[in-house]
Amino acid sequence: MASYLLTDRPIESIADYLAAGGGEGLARARAIGPDATIATIERSRLRGRGGAGFPTGVKWRGVASADPDQRRFLVCNAAEGEPGTFKDRALMRWNPYQLLEGIAIAAFAIGAEEAYIGLKERYAAELSALERAAAEMQAQDLLGDVPIRVVTGPDDYLLGEEKGLLEAIEGRPPFPRWYPPYLVGLYTDMPAGVGAGSAGWSEQANPAVVNNVETLSNVPHILAHGPEWFTEQGTPDSPGNMLFTVCGDVVHEGVAELPMGTPLAVLVHGVGEGPPEGRRVKAVFPGVSNAPIPDSLLDTPMDFDSMRAIGSGLGSGGMIVYDDSACIVAAAAVLSRFLAVESCGQCPPCKLGTDALAERFFLIDSGGGDRFTLDEVTAWIERVTDANRCGLGAGQRALAAGVLRLFGEEVIDHLGRRCPSDRVLGVPKIVDWDPDTGTFAYDEGYFAWRRA
Ligand SMILES: Cc1cc2nc3c(=O)[nH]c(=O)nc-3n(C[C@H](O)[C@H](O)[C@H](O)COP(=O)(O)O)c2cc1C
Ligand code: SF4
Repeated sequence: MASYLLTDRPIESIADYLAAGGGEGLARARAIGPDATIATIERSRLRGRGGAGFPTGVKWRGVASADPDQRRFLVCNAAEGEPGTFKDRALMRWNPYQLLEGIAIAAFAIGAEEAYIGLKERYAAELSALERAAAEMQAQDLLGDVPIRVVTGPDDYLLGEEKGLLEAIEGRPPFPRWYPPYLVGLYTDMPAGVGAGSAGWSEQANPAVVNNVETLSNVPHILAHGPEWFTEQGTPDSPGNMLFTVCGDVVHEGVAELPMGTPLAVLVHGVGEGPPEGRRVKAVFPGVSNAPIPDSLLDTPMDFDSMRAIGSGLGSGGMIVYDDSACIVAAAAVLSRFLAVESCGQCPPCKLGTDALAERFFLIDSGGGDRFTLDEVTAWIERVTDANRCGLGAGQRALAAGVLRLFGEEVIDHLGRRCPSDRVLGVPKIVDWDPDTGTFAYDEGYFAWRRA
């Protein structure tokens, strides 16, 4: 199936973009109007690529139908903080024009007053690509009438959590607020922390649509080619192509555009060329917030429902591969430590639970731990999501429960024993990609968490 998001070569000028059919999506949206534009996205069954797979058309319709007195906002989530993922930055570098056109279409469709792109301050290459492309498009009236502003924020994982991102856009640290963006969007007079444990808020207050970079990059193509073109690709429940990142213990790391429903083995053994010689795959972690997938399940199709059916998830399509030289307990320890450090602490069960789980996995990894330790792990898996404002605690639960469910024997064997592996594992926070050599550069700071 042909790539349409990451084409053969990068789109480096507005002339290149127009020659490749750029601009047709926004022109079509303007011709058919906001309501039919949303209907087109609904018919395409596009699902969000930021992690949860929520239907994009449903999200747009919910905000578009808010009381006309409400201000509406469109927010593009370009924070890309998931370890093992580089697809949004690849898209912004490769073709910033299609993202900007997608933002213009979405803002037009929902009747937004303003649109925002939120990304990390350290993503300098992406920021300059977006600014250059926006200036070129503006000069040719290809950005629509809704102003698009770029906001940068800190390197925190929570900058990518949609409610944390709204906080950052309003100039505060990215601590997730209680209500979802479709209820409480931007610039309301509601105190940021209101509502934890109180009666639910059901009115819409300046609602916002928050969509991922890849989700919005699909939009111009769907408008230009029609929803049927889109649903012909991928699976009935998860149409279209998706960008997948493969990293870790593979010969060739990279980002690939594949139809949804492609078996995970194609990514790991085809695109990634498999683990180094003499090694076999032990586990593939879809980011840090899903159950690891063992070698025996590599034929699972990469779509939202198939991944959920095996008790894992697609996440943002970033697959972290560990071969059989890695210890699953060490992997669980470093990934849980990442979640514990990034947890903001507004919900005590999340902060205490992620910390306790990381500590227990490190204890087992260092040769300690007994049955009682496993009981504590199980108890924290139950409690870590209590009264949570965001999905970080649920991600920790999925990761830890998945390790026990699928790799329970290895964890039990490890209790009270020195680790069979001498590898030091880190959290694969990708900072750069060299497609020619098939390698990623990682943030070395996340490889400093050695065994106790
Ligand atoms: C802890 C946490 C971190 C997240 N980080 C990101 C991120 O970096 N980028 C992103 O697009 N979505 C991220 N999400 C998901 C967003 O909250 C949100 O669901 C998404 O931006 C919606 O866009 P979509 O409907 O287009 O997928 C994160 C969620 C959680 C709970
Ligand atoms: S669930 Fe965790 S990360 Fe999310 S708001 Fe609560 S404490 Fe912060």
